[in-house]
Amino acid sequence: MYSEKVIDHFTNPRNVGEIENANGVGQVGNAKCGDIMRISMVVENDVIKDIKFKTFGCGAAVATSSMVTEMVKGKSVNEALDISNAAVAEALGGLPEAKLHCSNLAADAVHEAIKDYIQKKTKV
Ligand code: FES
Ligand code: FES
Repeated sequence: MYSEKVIDHFTNPRNVGEIENANGVGQVGNAKCGDIMRISMVVENDVIKDIKFKTFGCGAAVATSSMVTEMVKGKSVNEALDISNAAVAEALGGLPEAKLHCSNLAADAVHEAIKDYIQKKTKV
């Protein structure tokens, strides 16, 4: 029921952890199941240089987190803001219907981290 890509990203997740000197951090919770995803990133001149995630959630949530970090690394913040939850699920070859809500965390957490970066930037 899970695509090969989902299983690959779940068993071998990319970019796991937390960046200490991050200048953008975002955390979202899934109202449906209480799972949490946290994204930290280093942005330089509006380009995402590094990104890591921590997810307390199911396998589908881990796989989508891993996938979204690969999708946005090296991209500009504007390009990353354009990546939707649906696009992440699609890049994974789809998710079972009952697991689609899990993919809502990934892009949302990235978008929150970018908002955090922009807020900090405009403050200085
Ligand atoms: Fe939370 Fe799936 S309902 S892990
Ligand atoms: Fe909760 Fe998947 S994120 S069930």
